[in-house]
Amino acid sequence: MCSGIRTSGRKLYTTILLVAFTAFLSVMPFSGPLYAGKTDEKKKVERESNEELKKLMEEIDKHYKAAQERMGYYALSSSDWDTLLKAGKVITKLSDRVLKEFVPPDDKEYLKLMKEMKKRSAEIYKAANEKYVGAYEDIQYSFGRLRNSCKNCHNHLGIQLYTNLYPGGTPPK
Ligand code: HEC
Repeated sequence: MCSGIRTSGRKLYTTILLVAFTAFLSVMPFSGPLYAGKTDEKKKVERESNEELKKLMEEIDKHYKAAQERMGYYALSSSDWDTLLKAGKVITKLSDRVLKEFVPPDDKEYLKLMKEMKKRSAEIYKAANEKYVGAYEDIQYSFGRLRNSCKNCHNHLGIQLYTNLYPGGTPPK
């Protein structure tokens, strides 16, 4: 009798273990995806903010290139002046957005170079707006400084864009 109880006790114990183990096995496949889902979400948030910055950069690049086409000494048409004015204005505005939304809090170099970008594009805007004698020379000077800020920040961050920014050029050593 005693051994009978012990046997059924052991059976019950084994059954409980089996049920628990089966339950564990059936839940396990979900724990992986659940966990992965969480990390994916985190990565997605990071990628989204980069996507936004990427779009800003593309917009900056568009105006940068339009201005670059007006570099070199030749008679500027009023639409050339407008292009320079707009480039200065848009890049200043977008620099401000980057300053407010995207500067990594611990990166002083990034901050410095983004402020430089804003300063130089604002100079371009001012000169193109006032069109004083020598304004175009000032624009060319500021544009050179502006270009340096692009290069220095991309260098600082290890972003290789030279094929994009300077077609046919090789990265400076
Ligand atoms: C202070 C930092 C900084 C400055 C200044 C800067 N950039 Fe960028 N740039 C970045 C970062 C960061 C990225 C990468 C964005 C991403 O894809 O996450 C980038 C990416 C780009 C890209 C690639 C976008 C793409 O499609 O992947 C272009 C083009 C670009 N920048 C152009 C410019 C131009 C033109 C200037 C100057 C007028 C400039 N950048 C100035 C930080 C900077």
